[in-house]
Amino acid sequence: MFLSRLRELMENSESLMAAQSVTMLTISMLLSVFFLPGNLAGCPSDFMFVNVPRQIEALSGSCLQIPCSFKVKHDDYNPPNPILGIWLKNTIDIISNPNSLIFKSDGSVNIYSLNMIGNLNEENCTTVFPDLKTSYTDTYYLRIEKGAFRANAICDPLHITVKDSPWSPSINVPSDLKEHQSVTVTCSAFTPCPHSPPQLTWNLQQDSLRQTEKNTDGTFTTKIQETITLSDTHDGYNIRCSARYPVIGGNKTAETEVTLSVSYAPRNTSASISPSGLVSAGSWVELSCSSRAKPPPRFTWFRISKYGTFNVSVGQVFSFCVTERGEFYCMATNDLGNQRSSVILLSIKEDQVSEFQILNILKILSIVLLCISIIIFECWFRFSKKPKKETNEPIYVNNVMMTEAS
Ligand SMILES: *[C@@H]1O[C@H](CO)[C@@H](O)[C@H](O)[C@H]1NC(C)=O
Ligand SMILES: *[C@@H]1O[C@H](CO)[C@@H](O)[C@H](O)[C@H]1NC(C)=O
Ligand SMILES: *[C@@H]1O[C@H](CO)[C@@H](O)[C@H](O)[C@H]1NC(C)=O
Ligand SMILES: *[C@@H]1O[C@H](CO)[C@@H](O)[C@H](O)[C@H]1NC(C)=O
Repeated sequence: MFLSRLRELMENSESLMAAQSVTMLTISMLLSVFFLPGNLAGCPSDFMFVNVPRQIEALSGSCLQIPCSFKVKHDDYNPPNPILGIWLKNTIDIISNPNSLIFKSDGSVNIYSLNMIGNLNEENCTTVFPDLKTSYTDTYYLRIEKGAFRANAICDPLHITVKDSPWSPSINVPSDLKEHQSVTVTCSAFTPCPHSPPQLTWNLQQDSLRQTEKNTDGTFTTKIQETITLSDTHDGYNIRCSARYPVIGGNKTAETEVTLSVSYAPRNTSASISPSGLVSAGSWVELSCSSRAKPPPRFTWFRISKYGTFNVSVGQVFSFCVTERGEFYCMATNDLGNQRSSVILLSIKEDQVSEFQILNILKILSIVLLCISIIIFECWFRFSKKPKKETNEPIYVNNVMMTEAS
């Protein structure tokens, strides 16, 4: 295995030598032998460090800018020879696959119309693919030549995946949203081609600032952002953001949606009574409290009396047996605050004996008593007169008797 690897590397070096002038052959031969230990030492390489993304995605019809830089630490890498930047596709074995040589920075080869925009003298190999096709999906290797120095970036392959559909943008909202909070919402989209970045639009303010930023790995991101002050109406609100990528012959669009979840203190707190209207003492009533709040609220019932206001029950529903009239309200509470309902008046139906009725009954009773006493008095008065008449009667009797006698 070691030997086959050795042979492969030798062949590679030779294959590239073929591209060089014949006079360089001997030096190259020597160099290839010289370079073998470096290559065989495994990755990372001891003398050339290439910084390219391992994986990068691209959109067909769009351009792709590949961030690329390198560093060489080798005695043969010295001025004044010009630096040659080369891109190899799929394999570094050009002998078996001559088509793998796709680009040379001296302009002699350029199959895909690449543009090496980086300055090689500043060790910058940044390259732009102008118009990607899905068939370009492959692994690419950078090769650097300078005088007698030549090395393939076998330790740093670049895998390009060309997709037909664009990337959905991502919407960034801080977590744990609360009303009255001021938060910055960002919609960002991967930008393979910073020269024609995607157009971002959303259903928040349209004149949001758009900017294309460079990421730490050299790729780009386009974003729009806006700061909003949250209220309860933002809870459940859908933020939709779409990214329109300009491509050859039109645009490609992808959309993302995010639903906001905003916590808020209780609102629209109200109390109701069932049955409504007047209730009879001794019957059951049910007081019910409702409120809009996130997270859902706890309910407490209070009774207002002439001795003060008392906490009489907890829970959404408070049912009890009516003994007297009363005034009640409920309070909804969650982590963000509380709210009182308006006061409910519990009135008793006067179906027993009212004061007015009692008064009337008393009046009637007193009149009846008066009448009775008058009658009794009258009777007594008459009765007390009777004995006088009785004493006269014998005379009358006598008279009669006398009359009868006479
Ligand atoms: C390499 O060149 C590109 C294009 O000019 C530039 O945008 C980038 O900043 C350069 N990279 C470094 C590391 O200087
Ligand atoms: C592509 O999108 C741009 C806006 O980003 C628009 O002006 C243009 O008309 C669109 N082109 C096509 C072909 O849809
Ligand atoms: C809820 O309360 C808000 C004020 O806080 C008011 O504007 C709205 O109309 C109320 N909604 C209902 C259904 O009562
Ligand atoms: C009401 O009383 C209950 C039970 O005593 C208690 O758990 C609750 O905290 C009280 N609520 C308020 C608002 O005072």
